Amino acid sequence: MKTQSLFPYAGGKFYLMKEIREVFEKSGKHVAVDVFGGSGKFLLNVEARNKVYNDIDSRLVNLFNVIKERPQEFRQRFESFVYSRELFEKYVDGPETGKSVEDAFRTFYVFYCSFAGKGGTFGYNVMDRKSLGRKVIDVSTRLQDFHNEIQGWTIEHLDFRDLMKRYDSEDAFFYLDPPYFGKKFYRHNFTEKGFNDLADILPGLKGKYLLNINKNEFTLDRFGKPSREMEFKSFCDNGRVSGKRGSRAELFYWN
Ligand SMILES: C[S@@+](CC[C@H](N)C(=O)[O-])C[C@H]1O[C@@H](n2cnc3c(N)ncnc32)[C@H](O)[C@@H]1O
Repeated sequence: MKTQSLFPYAGGKFYLMKEIREVFEKSGKHVAVDVFGGSGKFLLNVEARNKVYNDIDSRLVNLFNVIKERPQEFRQRFESFVYSRELFEKYVDGPETGKSVEDAFRTFYVFYCSFAGKGGTFGYNVMDRKSLGRKVIDVSTRLQDFHNEIQGWTIEHLDFRDLMKRYDSEDAFFYLDPPYFGKKFYRHNFTEKGFNDLADILPGLKGKYLLNINKNEFTLDRFGKPSREMEFKSFCDNGRVSGKRGSRAELFYWN
């Protein structure tokens, strides 16, 4: 199965999708809940009867809602797509509360055209055989497929504590990919309290879960021995080795 991706996103788990899918399929659960949804890669790449996307970042929630509810208008907006640093800089500080098709397009633009999907700095790659502008047009031609998939999702905009309380059941599988410890990649990042609260919720769940976190002393101390550990060269979300070489480990915890 080819891994599906709507847009690159910092911390997106493109390169771990095979392992994540295996754990989900073994769980035998029917309700897939992506608690820290980001670019939605988990739900785009698993088969489940019910799918719930959640993120605290309202720009992403609006983007998924627009693809779900207003696909034609969104697709039309790509007809005037121009790949430009100037536009990127104009769009990058987009409003947190925007709910329009234009806001959704700007969110997509900022993540698609940014360095490493971080939504901060304009990204360009003169070595790439296919220009970024061309890749965006390719995505826009596949928007109908993304709409067909996303129209079946429930889209939530909740803090993870609230979401997990509402959706916990014998049928639920929570995919948990919280912000990286000690990094500020997102508009909404995590402090130690976020990890502590998550660690307190896990033992009481009726459903199953898979938690991914980066390895460091704090996360090992708080979550204990992992179910699995995988070591990597530092990757961008698109699977390429990132500029800063070095290895890092990803911890998997499941029940
Ligand atoms: C590591 S990213 C998830 C990446 C995602 N798995 C993907 O493949 O694109 C973490 C996400 O958690 C979201 N987030 C941060 N704090 C949150 C909170 N308290 N509740 C829910 N989501 C939160 C961020 O906005 C960010 O999109």
